[in-house]
Amino acid sequence: MLDVADLRVSYAGEVPALHGVSLTVGEGEAVALVGANGAGKTTLLKALAGLVEVADGGITFRGRTITRLPADERVGLGIALVPEGRRLFGRLRVRENLTLGTYTNKDPAHRAGRLGFVYSLFPILRERAEQRAGTLSGGEQQMLAMARALLVKPKLLLLDEMSQGLAPTVVQQLFQRIDLFRQQGTAVFLVEQFVDSALAVADRAYVFEQGTIAHEAPAALLRRDQTVLASSYLGTAIDVKAPVLAAAGGDGTSGRLMEDLTFKLPAEIKRALEEKADREGRRTEDLLLEVLGTSAKEAS
Ligand SMILES: Nc1ncnc2c1ncn2[C@@H]1O[C@H](COP(=O)(O)OP(=O)(O)OP(=O)(O)O)[C@@H](O)[C@H]1O
Ligand SMILES: [Mg+2]
Repeated sequence: MLDVADLRVSYAGEVPALHGVSLTVGEGEAVALVGANGAGKTTLLKALAGLVEVADGGITFRGRTITRLPADERVGLGIALVPEGRRLFGRLRVRENLTLGTYTNKDPAHRAGRLGFVYSLFPILRERAEQRAGTLSGGEQQMLAMARALLVKPKLLLLDEMSQGLAPTVVQQLFQRIDLFRQQGTAVFLVEQFVDSALAVADRAYVFEQGTIAHEAPAALLRRDQTVLASSYLGTAIDVKAPVLAAAGGDGTSGRLMEDLTFKLPAEIKRALEEKADREGRRTEDLLLEVLGTSAKEAS
């Protein structure tokens, strides 16, 4: 349904944020996009939603070229973005935020029907209908942002860092909802730092590195072997190689290495790496060296 070909985006005066991104999302499919901070994931979602200008390349949605279509017309075609940071109207009530989400549809019966649907997905929002959005908990705010996007009955939902700043239990609840959207025939393209949870709901995944796609694989495959993910995250941080080498040499910089990993790798990937090293009876440092060696070869 979504076909992106060689997409390029540059912010004024900066190096290109996207340089040649090609990907697809099928009808009803769930696709995850993972990658290090600053790789260009948000830029890609904004380009799909029509919020940044595309310099080159094309976007086709259900057979129609939308590369330069205004954002509101893309919403009309069934593309809805839940942006990073949620972007709610904090002073407005929950109900009012939701009413704004339905303004494009003039049919009151349809609007009421959709509102009923999102309230059934997120019952807490019905209870909190009169509360100001800014006073909701973080999890409730994310639910509101998702509910607002779902009001237009999108065919493709773009989710940018849905779990940002939320407790793991709340994140799990949100992931369970994704399955419900899919049962309604909505395709989902999700950018996520909770990598393992994203791979668990997704059919396929793309790994993003510095403005381009470095890998594409069935989600289950990436989930089983997270070394490819680790190399992508670490590959963008060349300076990690020195502490790994030092730690492998046994000169006592292991603590610094672990700090670096904690900082640069999503917790789940770090844990998976440690478990893999443990299973194989190896040191994490040695496994990392192997992982980094692979990424260095690929880069050259
Ligand atoms: N409005 C802007 N003007 C100039 N540069 C920008 C702008 N927005 C993003 N960038 C730059 O484009 C690059 C990609 O940013 P983007 O927000 O797409 O990354 P990301 O993968 O979503 O990162 P994160 O995981 O931190 O959300 C970064 O180098 C960023 O500094
Ligand atoms: Mg982002």
